[in-house]
Amino acid sequence: MSDTQDNKRVGGSAMKALVLSGGRGTRLRPLTYTGAKQLVPIANRPILFYILDNIARAGIKEVAMIISPETGAEIEETMGDGTRWGVKIQYILQAEPKGLAHAVITAEEFLGESPFVMYLGDNLIGSGIKDFTDAFMEGGSCGTERAEAAILLKPVDNPSSFGIAEVGPDGEILGLVEKPAVPKSNLALVGVYLFSAAIHKAISRISPSPRGELEITDAIQELLNSGAKVDSKILDSWWLDTGKKDDLLAANTIVLDEWFGRDISGEVDDNSTITGRVTISKGARIKNSTLRGPVVIGPDTVVEDSFIGPFTSIGGGSRIIKSIIEHSVIFSGTIVDHVDRLEDSLIGRDAKVVRCRDKHQALRLMVGDDSVVEV
Ligand code: DAU
Repeated sequence: MSDTQDNKRVGGSAMKALVLSGGRGTRLRPLTYTGAKQLVPIANRPILFYILDNIARAGIKEVAMIISPETGAEIEETMGDGTRWGVKIQYILQAEPKGLAHAVITAEEFLGESPFVMYLGDNLIGSGIKDFTDAFMEGGSCGTERAEAAILLKPVDNPSSFGIAEVGPDGEILGLVEKPAVPKSNLALVGVYLFSAAIHKAISRISPSPRGELEITDAIQELLNSGAKVDSKILDSWWLDTGKKDDLLAANTIVLDEWFGRDISGEVDDNSTITGRVTISKGARIKNSTLRGPVVIGPDTVVEDSFIGPFTSIGGGSRIIKSIIEHSVIFSGTIVDHVDRLEDSLIGRDAKVVRCRDKHQALRLMVGDDSVVEV
């Protein structure tokens, strides 16, 4: 089958993708005061890169990204026009984050009558989406009723933080509720949804939720109310909503573990030992240090007299001197100097973590709003 046939609904047009990269990012503060949460690096790659990988591999060519006035320029600059993935990306400004369904309204002109995948820009899943999109595009081809939406579900421990589906004995969806106080199941809606153009009418019939947003969960419930078919599938692979702080380190660990191999493009001196799956990017220099994988070191970073332990990524242009770092995510341009042991830590861009070497051993801190310092 050719790509175009692959990507056709019977008698319809090719599937498009809508990536939601607006919103406020309050849950990841202070890391996201200065940057978009969708660009937070997982194993030194912005989350949005993994999303575009999946969209491109599904054979989708036309992509629109919803951006906010605060972080839109940064997203546009990082993602570009899509050439890197062989797709065409256009940017659509959503003036205020009025909800996921509101984002769809904002993109109505781009979407037209096309079926589309709506992908939340902070969701990372451990598999591709091609089987999911192919099944949706082929649906209804053998005389069976065609679904107007398809959702992915995954059991979670904290159902009140997600959209939740109540599912019948044969897997049919009985109802959907956004962040229920008393959840009827633990099956959360994963942030990858497939829709036909029928979703636009459903959205026009819903009103803002108690949190003041037009919820996509309510719009899918509206489709069900109107008698439309909504398919669901339990996601087999892992799923992390990286917009939630605790998931970030977990995402870094899993991605380093599953997707990164050994690739030494930087310089390593004779006094250093590199064990396991370690990526050392171009321009990086490792001197008199031990790196135990999985580890990723960004371009032009210097590591000197240090131990970088498993499950750690260090962004580009950083300097790590006489320090021990394990299970941590360090963004770019950061200095870590004479720190005996840094563990389970997230350190933002251009930060300095330096041991004070005077007699008093006092802590001297300059800590931004909403930071957490454990000493
Ligand atoms: O992660 C899965 C969950 O995502 C689902 O289980 C929920 O049903 C769904 O409502 C959503 O919940 P969140 O509260 O986590 O959504 P959040 O506000 O974090 O927004 C998700 C993404 O969409 C994020 O990248 C920001 C972007 N966004 C959000 C809003 C509200 C926009 O682009 N525009 C918006 O108006």
